[in-house]
Amino acid sequence: MRLSTALRGGGALRRGAAAAAAVLCAAGMVLTAGGAASGDPASQLAARVDNPYSGAKVYVNPEWAAKARGDGGAAIANQPTFVWMDRIAAINGVNGGMGLRAHLDEALNQAGGQPLVFQVVIYNLPGRDCSALASNGELKPDELPKYKSEFIDPIAAILGDAKYANLRISTVIEIDSLPNLVTNTGSRPTAKPECDVMKANGNYVKGIGYALSKFGAIENVYNYIDAAHHGWIGWDDNFTTSAQLFAEAARAEGSTVDNVTGFITNTANYGVLKEPNYTINDSVNGTSVRQAKWVDWNRYVDELSFAQAFRTQLVSAGFRSDIGMMIDTSRNGWGGAQRPTGPGPRTSVDAFVDGGRLDRRIHLGNWCNQSGAGIGERPKAAPASGIDAYVWVKPPGESDGASRQIDNDEGKGFDRMCDPTYGGNALNGNNMSGALADAPLSGHWFSAQFRQLIQNAYPPL
Ligand code: GLC
Repeated sequence: MRLSTALRGGGALRRGAAAAAAVLCAAGMVLTAGGAASGDPASQLAARVDNPYSGAKVYVNPEWAAKARGDGGAAIANQPTFVWMDRIAAINGVNGGMGLRAHLDEALNQAGGQPLVFQVVIYNLPGRDCSALASNGELKPDELPKYKSEFIDPIAAILGDAKYANLRISTVIEIDSLPNLVTNTGSRPTAKPECDVMKANGNYVKGIGYALSKFGAIENVYNYIDAAHHGWIGWDDNFTTSAQLFAEAARAEGSTVDNVTGFITNTANYGVLKEPNYTINDSVNGTSVRQAKWVDWNRYVDELSFAQAFRTQLVSAGFRSDIGMMIDTSRNGWGGAQRPTGPGPRTSVDAFVDGGRLDRRIHLGNWCNQSGAGIGERPKAAPASGIDAYVWVKPPGESDGASRQIDNDEGKGFDRMCDPTYGGNALNGNNMSGALADAPLSGHWFSAQFRQLIQNAYPPL
Protein backbone atom coordinates (compact mmCIF):
# COMPACT_ATOMS: atom_id res chain seq x y z
CA MET A 1 0.00 0.00 0.00
CA ARG A 2 2.63 2.47 1.03
CA LEU A 3 4.61 2.06 -2.16
CA SER A 4 1.62 2.53 -4.40
CA THR A 5 0.48 5.59 -2.47
CA ALA A 6 3.87 7.15 -2.99
CA LEU A 7 3.76 6.41 -6.69
CA ARG A 8 0.35 7.94 -7.10
CA GLY A 9 1.29 10.93 -4.96
CA GLY A 10 4.25 11.61 -7.21
CA GLY A 11 1.93 11.44 -10.15
CA ALA A 12 -0.25 14.14 -8.70
CA LEU A 13 2.69 16.51 -8.55
CA ARG A 14 3.57 15.62 -12.09
CA ARG A 15 0.08 16.49 -13.17
CA GLY A 16 0.46 20.12 -12.16
CA ALA A 17 3.86 20.48 -13.76
CA ALA A 18 2.78 18.89 -16.99
CA ALA A 19 -0.25 21.11 -17.49
CA ALA A 20 -1.04 21.74 -21.13
CA ALA A 21 1.96 19.71 -22.20
CA ALA A 22 0.60 16.34 -23.12
CA VAL A 23 -1.91 15.81 -25.88
CA LEU A 24 -3.68 12.58 -26.66
CA CYS A 25 -1.64 10.35 -28.89
CA ALA A 26 1.56 12.08 -27.85
CA ALA A 27 4.41 9.78 -27.14
CA GLY A 28 5.45 10.21 -23.57
CA MET A 29 6.34 8.36 -20.48
CA VAL A 30 4.38 5.18 -20.72
CA LEU A 31 3.68 2.95 -17.78
CA THR A 32 1.96 -0.26 -18.69
CA ALA A 33 -1.09 -1.22 -16.72
CA GLY A 34 -1.98 -4.72 -15.80
CA GLY A 35 1.51 -6.04 -15.31
CA ALA A 36 1.32 -6.80 -11.62
CA ALA A 37 0.25 -10.06 -10.06
CA SER A 38 -3.45 -10.01 -9.32
CA GLY A 39 -4.85 -10.81 -5.92
CA ASP A 40 -2.48 -8.51 -4.06
CA PRO A 41 -4.19 -5.18 -3.43
CA ALA A 42 -0.93 -3.27 -3.17
CA SER A 43 0.32 -4.41 -6.53
CA GLN A 44 -3.08 -3.84 -8.07
CA LEU A 45 -2.95 -0.20 -7.12
CA ALA A 46 0.65 0.09 -8.19
CA ALA A 47 -0.34 -1.25 -11.59
CA ARG A 48 -2.47 1.83 -12.17
CA VAL A 49 -0.87 4.97 -13.48
CA ASP A 50 -1.84 8.30 -11.96
CA ASN A 51 -3.45 9.67 -15.11
CA PRO A 52 -4.54 6.97 -17.55
CA TYR A 53 -4.73 9.51 -20.38
CA SER A 54 -1.08 10.53 -20.15
CA GLY A 55 0.99 9.00 -22.90
CA ALA A 56 -1.92 7.00 -24.27
CA LYS A 57 -4.07 6.95 -27.38
CA VAL A 58 -7.83 6.93 -26.87
CA TYR A 59 -10.37 4.62 -28.53
CA VAL A 60 -12.32 5.95 -31.51
CA ASN A 61 -15.81 4.41 -31.63
CA PRO A 62 -16.16 3.31 -35.27
CA GLU A 63 -19.95 3.43 -35.13
CA TRP A 64 -20.04 7.05 -34.01
CA ALA A 65 -17.21 7.94 -36.39
CA ALA A 66 -19.17 6.57 -39.34
CA LYS A 67 -22.25 8.62 -38.42
CA ALA A 68 -20.18 11.76 -37.96
CA ARG A 69 -18.30 11.28 -41.22
CA GLY A 70 -21.55 10.57 -43.06
CA ASP A 71 -23.14 13.81 -41.84
CA GLY A 72 -20.53 16.44 -42.67
CA GLY A 73 -18.33 15.77 -39.65
CA ALA A 74 -15.16 14.39 -41.25
CA ALA A 75 -13.12 16.98 -39.33
CA ILE A 76 -14.05 15.42 -36.00
CA ALA A 77 -14.82 11.81 -36.92
CA ASN A 78 -11.44 10.63 -35.62
CA GLN A 79 -11.99 12.04 -32.15
CA PRO A 80 -12.50 9.65 -29.24
CA THR A 81 -16.00 9.47 -27.76
CA PHE A 82 -17.42 7.29 -25.00
CA VAL A 83 -19.27 4.04 -25.59
CA TRP A 84 -22.51 4.07 -23.59
CA MET A 85 -23.76 1.08 -21.63
CA ASP A 86 -27.22 2.58 -21.16
CA ARG A 87 -29.32 -0.58 -20.86
CA ILE A 88 -28.79 -4.30 -20.34
CA ALA A 89 -29.10 -5.01 -24.07
CA ALA A 90 -26.22 -2.62 -24.85
CA ILE A 91 -23.80 -5.15 -23.36
CA ASN A 92 -24.38 -7.45 -26.33
CA GLY A 93 -25.20 -4.67 -28.77
CA VAL A 94 -28.51 -3.09 -29.75
CA ASN A 95 -30.10 -3.40 -33.21
CA GLY A 96 -27.17 -5.33 -34.64
CA GLY A 97 -24.68 -2.76 -33.36
CA MET A 98 -21.44 -3.50 -31.54
CA GLY A 99 -21.58 -4.82 -27.99
CA LEU A 100 -19.00 -4.28 -25.28
CA ARG A 101 -16.74 -7.16 -26.36
CA ALA A 102 -16.79 -6.05 -29.98
CA HIS A 103 -15.72 -2.56 -28.89
CA LEU A 104 -12.96 -3.92 -26.66
CA ASP A 105 -11.67 -6.20 -29.43
CA GLU A 106 -11.59 -3.21 -31.76
CA ALA A 107 -9.80 -1.26 -29.01
CA LEU A 108 -7.08 -3.93 -28.90
CA ASN A 109 -6.81 -3.53 -32.62
CA GLN A 110 -6.49 0.27 -32.40
CA ALA A 111 -3.97 -0.04 -29.55
CA GLY A 112 -1.55 -2.05 -31.63
CA GLY A 113 0.31 -2.95 -28.45
CA GLN A 114 0.60 0.68 -27.27
CA PRO A 115 -1.22 2.18 -24.26
CA LEU A 116 -4.81 3.00 -25.18
CA VAL A 117 -7.71 4.29 -23.09
CA PHE A 118 -11.09 2.67 -23.69
CA GLN A 119 -13.90 4.95 -22.47
CA VAL A 120 -17.26 3.62 -21.31
CA VAL A 121 -20.30 5.17 -19.61
CA ILE A 122 -22.12 3.06 -17.03
CA TYR A 123 -25.68 4.39 -17.01
CA ASN A 124 -28.57 2.18 -15.96
CA LEU A 125 -29.33 2.68 -12.26
CA PRO A 126 -32.69 1.59 -10.92
CA GLY A 127 -35.10 4.52 -11.20
CA ARG A 128 -32.68 6.33 -13.49
CA ASP A 129 -32.99 10.04 -14.27
CA CYS A 130 -35.40 10.72 -11.41
CA SER A 131 -35.74 14.46 -12.03
CA ALA A 132 -36.41 14.31 -15.77
CA LEU A 133 -38.12 12.07 -18.27
CA ALA A 134 -35.98 12.07 -21.42
CA SER A 135 -33.55 9.43 -20.17
CA ASN A 136 -35.64 7.37 -17.81
CA GLY A 137 -34.22 3.88 -17.99
CA GLU A 138 -35.42 0.32 -18.01
CA LEU A 139 -35.01 -0.59 -14.32
CA LYS A 140 -37.66 0.22 -11.74
CA PRO A 141 -36.65 2.00 -8.51
CA ASP A 142 -36.47 -1.27 -6.55
CA GLU A 143 -34.61 -3.34 -9.14
CA LEU A 144 -31.19 -3.12 -7.50
CA PRO A 145 -30.67 -6.91 -7.58
CA LYS A 146 -31.26 -6.90 -11.33
CA TYR A 147 -28.89 -3.94 -11.79
CA LYS A 148 -26.20 -5.92 -10.00
CA SER A 149 -26.66 -9.34 -11.56
CA GLU A 150 -27.77 -8.47 -15.09
CA PHE A 151 -25.91 -5.22 -15.68
CA ILE A 152 -22.84 -4.64 -13.47
CA ASP A 153 -21.75 -8.28 -13.06
CA PRO A 154 -21.71 -9.12 -16.79
CA ILE A 155 -19.93 -5.84 -17.60
CA ALA A 156 -17.35 -6.52 -14.89
CA ALA A 157 -16.82 -10.04 -16.23
CA ILE A 158 -16.05 -8.62 -19.69
CA LEU A 159 -13.85 -5.75 -18.49
CA GLY A 160 -11.94 -8.18 -16.27
CA ASP A 161 -11.14 -10.59 -19.12
CA ALA A 162 -7.36 -11.08 -19.15
CA LYS A 163 -7.39 -10.41 -22.89
CA TYR A 164 -8.07 -6.73 -22.16
CA ALA A 165 -5.60 -6.37 -19.29
CA ASN A 166 -3.33 -3.99 -21.16
CA LEU A 167 -6.07 -1.53 -22.07
CA ARG A 168 -6.67 1.37 -19.70
CA ILE A 169 -10.41 1.34 -19.15
CA SER A 170 -11.93 4.66 -18.11
CA THR A 171 -15.48 4.46 -16.75
CA VAL A 172 -17.93 7.30 -16.18
CA ILE A 173 -20.23 6.20 -13.41
CA GLU A 174 -23.95 7.00 -13.40
CA ILE A 175 -24.57 10.50 -14.64
CA ASP A 176 -26.84 12.91 -12.73
CA SER A 177 -27.87 10.38 -10.11
CA LEU A 178 -26.21 11.48 -6.85
CA PRO A 179 -26.59 15.22 -7.61
CA ASN A 180 -30.31 14.61 -8.08
CA LEU A 181 -30.49 13.27 -4.53
CA VAL A 182 -28.91 16.49 -3.26
CA THR A 183 -30.91 19.10 -5.14
CA ASN A 184 -34.18 17.49 -6.14
CA THR A 185 -35.42 15.95 -2.91
CA GLY A 186 -37.06 16.89 0.38
CA SER A 187 -38.31 20.42 0.88
CA ARG A 188 -36.47 21.95 -2.08
CA PRO A 189 -38.74 23.72 -4.57
CA THR A 190 -37.16 21.51 -7.24
CA ALA A 191 -37.99 18.26 -5.41
CA LYS A 192 -39.45 15.36 -7.39
CA PRO A 193 -41.24 12.41 -5.77
CA GLU A 194 -39.18 10.02 -7.94
CA CYS A 195 -35.96 11.42 -6.47
CA ASP A 196 -37.34 11.19 -2.93
CA VAL A 197 -37.98 7.50 -3.59
CA MET A 198 -34.39 6.93 -4.72
CA LYS A 199 -33.02 8.81 -1.74
CA ALA A 200 -35.19 6.81 0.67
CA ASN A 201 -34.43 3.36 -0.80
CA GLY A 202 -30.71 4.10 -1.13
CA ASN A 203 -30.46 2.33 -4.48
CA TYR A 204 -28.44 5.05 -6.23
CA VAL A 205 -25.86 5.02 -3.43
CA LYS A 206 -25.81 1.21 -3.21
CA GLY A 207 -25.75 0.72 -6.98
CA ILE A 208 -22.79 3.08 -7.36
CA GLY A 209 -20.95 1.51 -4.43
CA TYR A 210 -21.48 -1.90 -5.98
CA ALA A 211 -20.29 -0.81 -9.43
CA LEU A 212 -17.19 0.83 -7.92
CA SER A 213 -16.30 -2.24 -5.89
CA LYS A 214 -16.68 -4.57 -8.89
CA PHE A 215 -14.80 -2.39 -11.37
CA GLY A 216 -12.26 -1.29 -8.77
CA ALA A 217 -11.22 -4.91 -8.35
CA ILE A 218 -10.02 -4.91 -11.97
CA GLU A 219 -6.56 -3.46 -11.96
CA ASN A 220 -6.70 -1.71 -15.34
CA VAL A 221 -10.05 0.04 -14.73
CA TYR A 222 -10.13 3.74 -13.77
CA ASN A 223 -13.43 4.90 -12.27
CA TYR A 224 -14.68 8.48 -12.64
CA ILE A 225 -17.90 9.35 -10.80
CA ASP A 226 -20.23 11.90 -12.40
CA ALA A 227 -20.15 15.23 -10.56
CA ALA A 228 -22.78 17.23 -12.47
CA HIS A 229 -21.57 20.73 -13.43
CA HIS A 230 -21.13 24.25 -12.08
CA GLY A 231 -24.70 25.22 -12.94
CA TRP A 232 -25.94 22.43 -10.70
CA ILE A 233 -23.73 22.00 -7.67
CA GLY A 234 -21.73 25.24 -7.87
CA TRP A 235 -23.90 26.85 -5.19
CA ASP A 236 -22.54 26.64 -1.64
CA ASP A 237 -25.41 24.59 -0.25
CA ASN A 238 -25.01 21.92 -2.96
CA PHE A 239 -21.22 21.86 -3.18
CA THR A 240 -20.26 20.40 0.20
CA THR A 241 -23.31 18.15 0.50
CA SER A 242 -22.58 16.60 -2.90
CA ALA A 243 -18.97 15.81 -2.01
CA GLN A 244 -20.16 14.13 1.21
CA LEU A 245 -22.76 12.06 -0.61
CA PHE A 246 -20.19 10.97 -3.22
CA ALA A 247 -17.92 9.80 -0.39
CA GLU A 248 -20.81 7.87 1.13
CA ALA A 249 -21.48 6.12 -2.21
CA ALA A 250 -17.78 5.35 -2.69
CA ARG A 251 -17.86 3.51 0.64
CA ALA A 252 -21.15 1.67 0.08
CA GLU A 253 -21.51 -2.04 -0.68
CA GLY A 254 -17.96 -2.89 0.27
CA SER A 255 -16.32 -0.21 -1.87
CA THR A 256 -13.62 2.15 -0.65
CA VAL A 257 -12.45 5.53 -1.95
CA ASP A 258 -9.43 3.74 -3.43
CA ASN A 259 -11.75 2.53 -6.21
CA VAL A 260 -12.19 6.11 -7.41
CA THR A 261 -9.66 7.58 -9.85
CA GLY A 262 -11.57 10.82 -10.13
CA PHE A 263 -14.70 12.67 -11.22
CA ILE A 264 -16.21 14.07 -14.39
CA THR A 265 -18.07 17.35 -14.76
CA ASN A 266 -20.32 18.76 -17.49
CA THR A 267 -21.35 15.37 -18.87
CA ALA A 268 -23.74 15.93 -21.78
CA ASN A 269 -24.08 19.55 -20.65
CA TYR A 270 -23.22 22.86 -22.29
CA GLY A 271 -21.29 24.76 -19.59
CA VAL A 272 -18.37 26.81 -20.89
CA LEU A 273 -14.88 25.69 -19.94
CA LYS A 274 -13.62 29.19 -19.26
CA GLU A 275 -15.48 32.51 -19.46
CA PRO A 276 -12.80 34.93 -20.67
CA ASN A 277 -14.81 38.14 -20.27
CA TYR A 278 -15.65 38.00 -16.57
CA THR A 279 -14.80 36.09 -13.41
CA ILE A 280 -16.68 35.45 -10.19
CA ASN A 281 -14.55 38.14 -8.50
CA ASP A 282 -15.65 40.96 -10.80
CA SER A 283 -18.07 43.65 -9.75
CA VAL A 284 -19.78 46.51 -11.51
CA ASN A 285 -20.31 49.81 -9.69
CA GLY A 286 -19.74 47.95 -6.43
CA THR A 287 -22.17 45.10 -7.17
CA SER A 288 -20.73 41.58 -7.44
CA VAL A 289 -21.39 39.57 -10.61
CA ARG A 290 -22.73 36.92 -8.23
CA GLN A 291 -25.83 39.10 -8.11
CA ALA A 292 -26.32 39.04 -11.85
CA LYS A 293 -29.45 37.19 -12.91
CA TRP A 294 -27.42 34.71 -14.96
CA VAL A 295 -25.03 33.87 -12.09
CA ASP A 296 -27.70 33.99 -9.38
CA TRP A 297 -25.31 33.70 -6.40
CA ASN A 298 -23.44 30.74 -7.84
CA ARG A 299 -19.80 30.57 -6.71
CA TYR A 300 -18.52 29.61 -10.20
CA VAL A 301 -19.02 30.95 -13.70
CA ASP A 302 -17.35 28.17 -15.68
CA GLU A 303 -16.44 24.49 -15.62
CA LEU A 304 -12.68 24.63 -15.24
CA SER A 305 -12.75 26.79 -12.11
CA PHE A 306 -15.56 24.63 -10.72
CA ALA A 307 -13.85 21.30 -11.45
CA GLN A 308 -10.60 22.42 -9.86
CA ALA A 309 -12.32 23.75 -6.74
CA PHE A 310 -14.58 20.74 -6.42
CA ARG A 311 -11.55 18.48 -6.62
CA THR A 312 -10.22 20.13 -3.47
CA GLN A 313 -13.60 19.74 -1.78
CA LEU A 314 -13.69 16.03 -2.68
CA VAL A 315 -10.28 15.49 -1.15
CA SER A 316 -11.46 17.10 2.07
CA ALA A 317 -14.52 14.86 1.97
CA GLY A 318 -12.20 11.84 2.11
CA PHE A 319 -11.16 11.07 -1.46
CA ARG A 320 -7.52 10.41 -2.27
CA SER A 321 -5.33 13.46 -2.73
CA ASP A 322 -4.30 12.25 -6.20
CA ILE A 323 -7.78 12.11 -7.77
CA GLY A 324 -8.09 13.73 -11.18
CA MET A 325 -11.01 15.50 -12.83
CA MET A 326 -12.32 15.19 -16.37
CA ILE A 327 -14.54 17.68 -18.17
CA ASP A 328 -16.92 16.83 -21.03
CA THR A 329 -16.14 19.42 -23.72
CA SER A 330 -18.09 17.80 -26.53
CA ARG A 331 -20.69 20.57 -26.87
CA ASN A 332 -19.54 23.59 -24.85
CA GLY A 333 -17.70 25.53 -27.57
CA TRP A 334 -20.27 28.30 -28.19
CA GLY A 335 -18.46 29.65 -31.25
CA GLY A 336 -20.01 31.09 -34.39
CA ALA A 337 -21.19 34.56 -35.26
CA GLN A 338 -22.97 35.14 -31.92
CA ARG A 339 -19.83 34.65 -29.82
CA PRO A 340 -19.03 37.83 -27.84
CA THR A 341 -15.61 39.26 -28.64
CA GLY A 342 -15.11 41.18 -25.39
CA PRO A 343 -16.63 42.08 -22.03
CA GLY A 344 -20.14 43.49 -21.78
CA PRO A 345 -20.81 47.14 -20.88
CA ARG A 346 -20.27 48.17 -17.26
CA THR A 347 -23.69 49.79 -17.02
CA SER A 348 -25.06 47.06 -14.71
CA VAL A 349 -24.00 43.58 -13.58
CA ASP A 350 -26.60 42.05 -15.85
CA ALA A 351 -25.46 44.01 -18.90
CA PHE A 352 -21.84 43.17 -18.09
CA VAL A 353 -22.42 39.43 -17.66
CA ASP A 354 -24.97 39.00 -20.43
CA GLY A 355 -22.91 41.00 -22.91
CA GLY A 356 -19.72 39.08 -22.22
CA ARG A 357 -20.71 35.51 -21.49
CA LEU A 358 -19.89 32.86 -24.08
CA ASP A 359 -22.60 30.54 -22.75
CA ARG A 360 -25.61 31.85 -24.62
CA ARG A 361 -28.28 29.67 -23.09
CA ILE A 362 -31.47 31.37 -21.97
CA HIS A 363 -30.91 29.93 -18.48
CA LEU A 364 -28.08 27.93 -16.93
CA GLY A 365 -30.55 25.17 -16.03
CA ASN A 366 -31.39 24.45 -19.68
CA TRP A 367 -29.93 21.12 -20.75
CA CYS A 368 -31.74 19.69 -23.74
CA ASN A 369 -30.45 20.09 -27.34
CA GLN A 370 -29.44 23.70 -26.78
CA SER A 371 -29.84 26.00 -29.72
CA GLY A 372 -26.64 27.79 -30.74
CA ALA A 373 -24.18 25.38 -29.09
CA GLY A 374 -20.95 24.27 -30.73
CA ILE A 375 -18.32 21.55 -30.43
CA GLY A 376 -15.87 22.44 -27.66
CA GLU A 377 -12.21 21.73 -26.93
CA ARG A 378 -10.91 18.61 -28.60
CA PRO A 379 -10.13 15.73 -26.23
CA LYS A 380 -6.78 16.31 -24.58
CA ALA A 381 -4.77 14.70 -21.77
CA ALA A 382 -3.66 16.67 -18.70
CA PRO A 383 -4.84 20.05 -20.05
CA ALA A 384 -4.73 21.92 -16.73
CA SER A 385 -3.79 21.46 -13.10
CA GLY A 386 -5.87 18.74 -11.45
CA ILE A 387 -7.53 17.75 -14.74
CA ASP A 388 -6.81 14.27 -16.15
CA ALA A 389 -8.42 15.04 -19.51
CA TYR A 390 -10.94 16.91 -21.59
CA VAL A 391 -13.11 14.18 -23.04
CA TRP A 392 -16.18 13.80 -25.22
CA VAL A 393 -18.58 11.76 -23.12
CA LYS A 394 -21.73 12.80 -24.96
CA PRO A 395 -21.17 11.86 -28.57
CA PRO A 396 -21.97 15.01 -30.60
CA GLY A 397 -25.00 14.40 -32.80
CA GLU A 398 -26.85 12.21 -30.29
CA SER A 399 -30.04 13.84 -29.04
CA ASP A 400 -30.65 14.74 -25.39
CA GLY A 401 -34.33 13.97 -25.70
CA ALA A 402 -37.32 14.09 -28.02
CA SER A 403 -39.08 17.39 -28.54
CA ARG A 404 -42.45 15.65 -28.49
CA GLN A 405 -43.93 12.34 -27.32
CA ILE A 406 -42.48 9.44 -29.33
CA ASP A 407 -43.46 5.86 -28.50
CA ASN A 408 -40.47 3.63 -27.80
CA ASP A 409 -39.30 0.49 -26.04
CA GLU A 410 -36.29 2.16 -24.37
CA GLY A 411 -38.20 3.41 -21.34
CA LYS A 412 -37.72 7.00 -22.48
CA GLY A 413 -40.32 9.60 -21.67
CA PHE A 414 -41.09 13.02 -23.08
CA ASP A 415 -39.49 15.82 -21.10
CA ARG A 416 -40.84 19.22 -21.96
CA MET A 417 -37.39 20.74 -21.42
CA CYS A 418 -36.75 19.31 -24.89
CA ASP A 419 -39.75 21.14 -26.35
CA PRO A 420 -38.86 24.58 -27.76
CA THR A 421 -42.36 25.89 -27.00
CA TYR A 422 -42.13 25.06 -23.27
CA GLY A 423 -42.02 27.95 -20.80
CA GLY A 424 -40.03 26.09 -18.14
CA ASN A 425 -40.40 25.21 -14.46
CA ALA A 426 -38.62 25.68 -11.10
CA LEU A 427 -35.50 23.94 -12.41
CA ASN A 428 -34.83 26.63 -15.01
CA GLY A 429 -36.42 29.63 -13.35
CA ASN A 430 -39.50 29.34 -15.59
CA ASN A 431 -37.61 30.30 -18.73
CA MET A 432 -38.01 29.00 -22.25
CA SER A 433 -36.23 25.65 -22.78
CA GLY A 434 -33.91 26.85 -25.54
CA ALA A 435 -34.15 23.41 -27.18
CA LEU A 436 -33.95 22.79 -30.91
CA ALA A 437 -37.16 21.61 -32.58
CA ASP A 438 -37.82 18.21 -34.15
CA ALA A 439 -35.41 16.26 -31.96
CA PRO A 440 -35.54 12.44 -31.89
CA LEU A 441 -35.40 10.28 -28.73
CA SER A 442 -32.38 10.70 -26.48
CA GLY A 443 -29.37 8.89 -27.85
CA HIS A 444 -30.76 8.86 -31.41
CA TRP A 445 -28.97 10.73 -34.21
CA PHE A 446 -30.05 14.35 -34.56
CA SER A 447 -28.60 15.61 -37.80
CA ALA A 448 -29.72 19.25 -37.53
CA GLN A 449 -28.10 19.55 -34.12
CA PHE A 450 -24.91 17.87 -35.31
CA ARG A 451 -24.57 20.34 -38.17
CA GLN A 452 -25.06 23.30 -35.87
CA LEU A 453 -22.50 21.93 -33.43
CA ILE A 454 -19.95 21.68 -36.25
CA GLN A 455 -20.76 25.15 -37.50
CA ASN A 456 -20.41 26.71 -34.04
CA ALA A 457 -17.32 24.75 -32.99
CA TYR A 458 -14.83 26.62 -30.81
CA PRO A 459 -11.93 26.31 -31.25
CA PRO A 460 -13.16 26.38 -34.87
CA LEU A 461 -12.62 23.27 -36.96
C1 GLC B 1 -28.90 9.71 -23.38
C2 GLC B 1 -29.70 8.47 -23.66
C3 GLC B 1 -28.84 7.26 -23.83
C4 GLC B 1 -27.72 7.55 -24.81
C5 GLC B 1 -26.93 8.74 -24.35
C6 GLC B 1 -25.79 9.11 -25.29
O1 GLC B 1 -28.56 9.77 -22.05
O2 GLC B 1 -30.67 8.24 -22.69
O3 GLC B 1 -29.63 6.21 -24.28
O4 GLC B 1 -26.89 6.43 -24.96
O5 GLC B 1 -27.77 9.85 -24.21
O6 GLC B 1 -26.20 9.80 -26.41
